[in-house]
Amino acid sequence: MARILITSALPYINGVKHLGNLAGSMLPADVYARAMRLLGHEVLYICATDEHGTPAELAAADAGMAVADYCDKMHDAQRAAGADFKMSYDYFGRSSALSNHEMTQHLAHMLETNGLIEERVSEQVYSNADGRFLPDRYVEGTCPNCGADGARGDQCDSCGKLLDPADLIEPYSAVSGSKDVEIRQTNHLYLKQSDMADRLRAWIDKAEGWPNLAKSIAYKWLDEGLHDRAITRDMKWGIPVAYKGVPRPGFEDKVFYVWFDAPIEYISATKDWADATGHDWQSWWRTDKGADDVTYVEFMGKDNVAFHTLSFPTTLIGSGEPWKLVDRLKAFNWVTWYGGKFSTSQKRGVFMDQALDLAPSDYWRWHLTANAPEGADAGFTFEDFAARINSDLANVLGNFVNRITKYCVGKFDGKVPCPKKYGGGEWGKPEDTLVAELAERLPKLIAYYEAMEFRKAASETRAIWATGNEYLTEAAPWSQYKTDIDQAAIGVRIGLNLVAFFGVIAQPIIPDAAGKILDAMHIPKDNRTWKFGEGDWNERVKAILDALPHGHEISAPEVLFTKIEDADIEEWKQRFGGEG
Ligand code: MF3
Ligand code: ZN
Repeated sequence: MARILITSALPYINGVKHLGNLAGSMLPADVYARAMRLLGHEVLYICATDEHGTPAELAAADAGMAVADYCDKMHDAQRAAGADFKMSYDYFGRSSALSNHEMTQHLAHMLETNGLIEERVSEQVYSNADGRFLPDRYVEGTCPNCGADGARGDQCDSCGKLLDPADLIEPYSAVSGSKDVEIRQTNHLYLKQSDMADRLRAWIDKAEGWPNLAKSIAYKWLDEGLHDRAITRDMKWGIPVAYKGVPRPGFEDKVFYVWFDAPIEYISATKDWADATGHDWQSWWRTDKGADDVTYVEFMGKDNVAFHTLSFPTTLIGSGEPWKLVDRLKAFNWVTWYGGKFSTSQKRGVFMDQALDLAPSDYWRWHLTANAPEGADAGFTFEDFAARINSDLANVLGNFVNRITKYCVGKFDGKVPCPKKYGGGEWGKPEDTLVAELAERLPKLIAYYEAMEFRKAASETRAIWATGNEYLTEAAPWSQYKTDIDQAAIGVRIGLNLVAFFGVIAQPIIPDAAGKILDAMHIPKDNRTWKFGEGDWNERVKAILDALPHGHEISAPEVLFTKIEDADIEEWKQRFGGEG
């Protein structure tokens, strides 16, 4: 049994996330967390809202709310959306929590003690009309790189280049629109990442659990030369630049930069979880307190890789304290919406809170996992969504469960046929074929989960379900029944055990339907894990196919999946702006 710490990139506070965000971090992290728990590992899955920075202030201003109130409201909305999608977080925290203030201030203090933080004079855009500095997204203008209008101070959306607000041509305030801005000098804290480059490279060279995508992004940044970066901003909302309650002189109107404090929230949220539940957070995060046997796995979109492989490790290693660093990292590409981008501002795509009006969470979880943006971007269309749900869930799994449970209720009193009663049947070729196929597929399924290959895990799950239908077609208990009830009983017994097994392996991706199946099979909640025995897979599979007690009562579940109709697709496309 291993101890596995799982974090999903923290969803930003400025609105309920769209399905692309869900598919590229929270959902796969959840599927992985569930699979690892079923395999018997001790899992801690941590997530939180990322609440600081200019986008939070701007979104609050748009909503006409005080930023703290806005964050309260949106945190609750995101918590609810996560719960509705069955995210099995052990804790869903907030980067604005007091614990994160303390932890962020502590780590900054340690970095400074170790000579890795330095106060430097920097040039910032100051707005006379607004009477304040304009950090990051507070200033817009013409991109110095590509010449596009409306580039934001931190990044140009047209060419993607990261910018410094002071470099914008013809800058204006995003708050008031005023062009009465000037460059003023003010002090900021700089994290000397360049001093850490060699240590980071040595650490990354040794990293084994990173996919190529993550390693290549990290090396690209290292090769281009790591820049020292300002970790403070001229803003009110955020974590004050203070230590043990004492503000740093000259920094009274400044806070830490959002990307400095956000990943630290992984630790602070663990602390809050531990406080709330009576656990020990240090055993998960401090290698001198037991975390040396933890495997730490991070999930994120590819735009987050540099922050997780370079910036956050700089903070942790640079502190000189024995922090747990990421062991395995899973980075995702984008989900595209009818070939374009999901867009929060243009309302393109489906958002988590709307999606559940259209279809149950399991449907989305299944499609977004089977179509995970793993090797490349993955396109989303309602047509693909409907086709996959109708085929995999309704036809393959739903029909199988329905067929055999109903038949058992109709012909065998709703009980697992007992060999004492129906003793004359014979194990034959259909059974051998089934065992051979499952003995090959089940270890592969487990290996895909361990390797965090989610598309493959979903397709293997489906292939296993499909063996059930093939088996029933071959064994055909309904035809056997007419001449040889004992032979039919074997097919029904194996079929029912398959139903239970299919429910057990379905749990990471479609927990609701899996729960309904296992409830209908009257399998106790504490007996749904992936304890598949040891040794020879043929023997293990045979045990799986005879796991339900003979005579055990089962029932036919209510309808598990309803098909998505063409009319639904048309309506959704109208409503959500899909362009077929
Ligand atoms: N909020 C960021 C985003 O949406 C992710 C933050 S991940 C963390 O891209 F590590 F910083 F928390
Ligand atoms: Zn540009």
